[in-house]
Amino acid sequence: MPGGSCHSEVSGIAQSCRRYMMDSLFSFFLVCFPLHSGQLCRMLVRMMGAKRILAIDLLNFPSFLTMAEVVPDGGSITLCATQSYLEEAIQKTPDFSSHGNKIKEKIGPIIDSMKELAAMGEDFDIVFIDADQRSPAEYYRFVMENHLLRMDGMLCVKNALMKGHGYLENTADENVLDVKTLNQVINSDPCTEQGVVKDEVFWGYRGRRILDRLQLDEKVAYVTGGGQGIGRAFCHALGEAGAKVAVVDLIPAKANAVAHELSLKADISKPEDIQKMLDKIVAKWGAVHIACNNAGINMNSSSEDTSLEEWDKTFNINLRGLFLCCQAAGRIMLNQGYGKIINTASMASLIASDSQDARGIVDTPLIHSEELKPLVQRWLTDIPAGRLAQVTDLQAAVVYLASEASDYMTGHNLVIEGGQSLW
Ligand SMILES: NC(=O)c1ccc[n+]([C@@H]2O[C@H](COP(=O)([O-])OP(=O)(O)OC[C@H]3O[C@@H](n4cnc5c(N)ncnc54)[C@H](O)[C@@H]3O)[C@@H](O)[C@H]2O)c1
Repeated sequence: MPGGSCHSEVSGIAQSCRRYMMDSLFSFFLVCFPLHSGQLCRMLVRMMGAKRILAIDLLNFPSFLTMAEVVPDGGSITLCATQSYLEEAIQKTPDFSSHGNKIKEKIGPIIDSMKELAAMGEDFDIVFIDADQRSPAEYYRFVMENHLLRMDGMLCVKNALMKGHGYLENTADENVLDVKTLNQVINSDPCTEQGVVKDEVFWGYRGRRILDRLQLDEKVAYVTGGGQGIGRAFCHALGEAGAKVAVVDLIPAKANAVAHELSLKADISKPEDIQKMLDKIVAKWGAVHIACNNAGINMNSSSEDTSLEEWDKTFNINLRGLFLCCQAAGRIMLNQGYGKIINTASMASLIASDSQDARGIVDTPLIHSEELKPLVQRWLTDIPAGRLAQVTDLQAAVVYLASEASDYMTGHNLVIEGGQSLW
């Protein structure tokens, strides 16, 4: 690449919503390295890990090619220009085909090309605007108002200071006035941060943004009663968020149908089954970070008709079994120094629902029995949300509870019941 100049033409940078001016950073780089603007752009693309780049009337083909070299496969640089530059550039650049095919042109009135991109729902990691053209502020406004710059994206303005003319107080030069307007628009844009903001709210806790903090990569989870209903939805949600999930169920066929990695048969009313379940998980994955104790049964009998056998069976699974799971998983977590225990309970612990022998507002096989069918209509009248819960209504909550984002939450009763307990 042609290079060696100590002067960079890219003199102003803003980043969408989390944006900052990088003039001081540039000074540092410029003093230390003889950067050409193409190299500077390339460095920004690499630093950002940018995949999608938009250049608005920025006509410097070597810069595009040097940026294209660091754009990952599948990425692209879209150039909006009034006339084509590619053809001529291809002829002049022998190694064009290796990375140059990442460069796309949109030829025509620039604002029309931008409208097309916006209509297609496109957004970009970095947007370059050349301030040395008519009404650059109009392009800036269009980019911001139409979300062509993604959240956390970077906006780079070339010629933002017009070789110092941008600082002149009294000037009639229209180009300089346009640049001054652009600077004023950017500076007064509430979406624009000036100066590097360093707090964790801005950059994300420990540098991790909120969606990253909900990720469960490298985490090991199990879900009892994972073969169907709520447990199955939990398995999928935790797996989608990145966790390794052991699907535990009394009925192995159900667990197999859900599991991609590890299905385990266990009866959680039996302490030996629980220990085996945890031993297998630790042997395979070395840890248990997330314990979802969800298995439970519903015998659906009125108090006056409940036999001792029913009572014992229900309490052996729903209470004793759950305690044994918490205890066994808790011991492992204490050794690890980290863990999350999530127990599925019932909103019937908060209210006694009208005419309801059974727990149940979540639409799962648990409440599909013939004897419960007539009750469902009556429950619906009690639920302000006007519908039964679907298992998918609970999935985000289990991911949140399992993730580091909820680390400060402990001993909490999280109620998701369409408002039923508010009456
Ligand atoms: N569905 C609701 O409206 C509702 C309401 C309140 C509470 N709950 C509770 O939510 C949890 C899940 O309910 P669901 O509706 O998905 O139930 P479900 O009956 O659809 O699924 C429960 C799963 O647990 C398994 N299981 C039962 N006993 C087990 C045992 N001893 N060991 C291991 N696995 C066992 C079953 O094979 C089944 O796959 C249960 O604890 C239930 O009491 C559900």
